[in-house]
Amino acid sequence: MSAPVAFAVIGAGFMGERWARVLGEHAGARVAVVADPDAARGAALAERCGARHVADAAEGASAPGVDAVVVCTPEHLHLDASLATLRAGRPLAVEKPLAHTAEQAEEIAAHAERAAVPVLAAHVLRFEPRYAAVKAAIARGEIGRVLAVRQERIGVAADRARLSARTTAALYYASHELDLARWYAGPLEAVHGAGDPAELLSGTLRFAGGAHGTIQVGWCLPDRTPGFGLAGVTVIGEHGVLRVTQGDSGLLAVGADGQLDADTAWAPELHGRLGGALAREADHFVAVAAGEQEPLCTAADGAAAVRASLALEASAGTGSTIQITTPPRRETGSPEETGVS
Ligand SMILES: NC(=O)c1ccc[n+]([C@@H]2O[C@H](COP(=O)([O-])OP(=O)(O)OC[C@H]3O[C@@H](n4cnc5c(N)ncnc54)[C@H](O)[C@@H]3O)[C@@H](O)[C@H]2O)c1
Repeated sequence: MSAPVAFAVIGAGFMGERWARVLGEHAGARVAVVADPDAARGAALAERCGARHVADAAEGASAPGVDAVVVCTPEHLHLDASLATLRAGRPLAVEKPLAHTAEQAEEIAAHAERAAVPVLAAHVLRFEPRYAAVKAAIARGEIGRVLAVRQERIGVAADRARLSARTTAALYYASHELDLARWYAGPLEAVHGAGDPAELLSGTLRFAGGAHGTIQVGWCLPDRTPGFGLAGVTVIGEHGVLRVTQGDSGLLAVGADGQLDADTAWAPELHGRLGGALAREADHFVAVAAGEQEPLCTAADGAAAVRASLALEASAGTGSTIQITTPPRRETGSPEETGVS
């Protein structure tokens, strides 16, 4: 049996802890390095994994003995850790959204292409069985040509209180949905948004292949909303329909202080190990890092989701429809264009 793939996990917060755990529980992987400037948090996670703690993201990404890197820093810090990984020539997974701006996302995508290093834009819903089943049914032709998609991902006000200083609802939530929208209906051509980006956005989507769609994203629902929000997608085809209603996991879980975590799909614990979509995503990235699979969601896909999310937000601000353009991939140099016109 070949040696386990050695990973550096950059950022030891909510997602870094989970990635470290699923990788540590994978027979073909181990966590060698945890990088986080928060010494207490980084060292504690490193100790739990039997890994080395470093404060600096670039040092972690390029540390000797590391084969591949997972970036789990706050959104606006994805770029530096990602570029350090690509310069070291190591396979890279970056938590969604790929980056905080279209320019930064494009820089990661262009650098990945030049370096010919595999990058997984970690859009976990592609690994959730229900969302993946929708894709598979479309690919088998079960519903014919996709006519329209309807999507929503609306979190609770506590999400806004926790996250609005560092990101936006469009980047945090629409990036999930617009990646799925592109996966199901192909490249996006135009977006028209309405509403207050700080609370709730509605948008209409037009796809290059002729499909159209609607989307609502935000973080304004009462904190007591069952399932901590609303999320789901409907895909309407020429002769069929597919729908995922994410909120109802089939598990009712209420304690003395109200609702409990009822996750059965994303990263539920099953007999002492994390399962669900995150574990399947980790399986995939271990295989990518071992050179056995190509990334299911590339840096270019991640950059496209960022561009579309920012276009939705910008359109709501101006009231104008925004055409989505895909920057040409280039061999050298750093791209200047935003991709949003
Ligand atoms: N896939 C999902 O379902 C999902 C869910 C939640 C968050 N996310 C994404 O995961 C990413 C991380 O979010 P989170 O909720 O884990 O954030 P978090 O705030 O819980 O953790 C971020 C960690 O990064 C560390 N950090 C800050 N600067 C750093 C640096 N320069 N180098 C290394 N580490 C640094 C912080 O100290 C902190 O420990 C974000 O992109 C977020 O959008 C994805």
